[in-house]
Amino acid sequence: MKVLIIGDVVAKPGRIAVLERIQDLREQYQIDLAIMNAENLAGGFSVTPGLCEQLFSSGIDVMTSGNHIFDKKEAIDYIAKQPRLIRPANYPPNTPGSGYWVGEVNGTRVAVMNLMGRVFMPPSDDPFRIVDGLLASLPDTTIRIVDMHAEATSEKVAMGWYLDGRVSAVVGTHTHVQTADERILPGGTAYLTDIGMTGSYAGVIGMNKADVIARFTSATARRADHATGQVRICAALIDIDESTGKARSIERLNLTHNQ
Ligand SMILES: [Fe+2]
Ligand SMILES: [Fe+2]
Repeated sequence: MKVLIIGDVVAKPGRIAVLERIQDLREQYQIDLAIMNAENLAGGFSVTPGLCEQLFSSGIDVMTSGNHIFDKKEAIDYIAKQPRLIRPANYPPNTPGSGYWVGEVNGTRVAVMNLMGRVFMPPSDDPFRIVDGLLASLPDTTIRIVDMHAEATSEKVAMGWYLDGRVSAVVGTHTHVQTADERILPGGTAYLTDIGMTGSYAGVIGMNKADVIARFTSATARRADHATGQVRICAALIDIDESTGKARSIERLNLTHNQ
């Protein structure tokens, strides 16, 4: 099974790139399941139902998220009704939405899980303990994919080793900077510390550079607008053996998108 996982899609430049390229990418790489991280979809913060539905109908199958998912109020009602959009599983138990999605892809049961780190991140429960419970309680799924949304590389590498042999892939999101450490761990788990951002590289991790510099240099700066131009699509392409759930290969994609 070929799985495409697109890193944090930021604002309009990221959305347009995914909408324009997803069908080509699906065909080119014979993709069976397309996942994207949607936490920054709407102007850089959270999602709107309309934007998500547009992407779902254009070739995205499942959306993961992270610390920005509830920045917009409308995401709260929407996530409760849309099982294909998930949020970190280690949020408090009464949080709307689910921390995982389970579905059938070409006759194989697949689970996509979303975890969030705790180092330099908003408070959340222990993702290591929570994922143990999740794996024990999940219906029988051969293919299991984890989006570890975290800041610290050490915490993500630790999660990769912790889940090696128990899931098909652990890939990181949140930093918006792609790392070059893709590999198959000894137990058969595909690993990449951060997939990288899909959006404008003319700014600071997708946001307007003047706005972000102002935040670092003044006490009065407001929330940043998103950047435009120099758009790239960052993703991980993972080939998984359907019978064992183990990964055969992982490849990083970092594609220029001309707008
Ligand atoms: Fe992000
Ligand atoms: Fe994030």
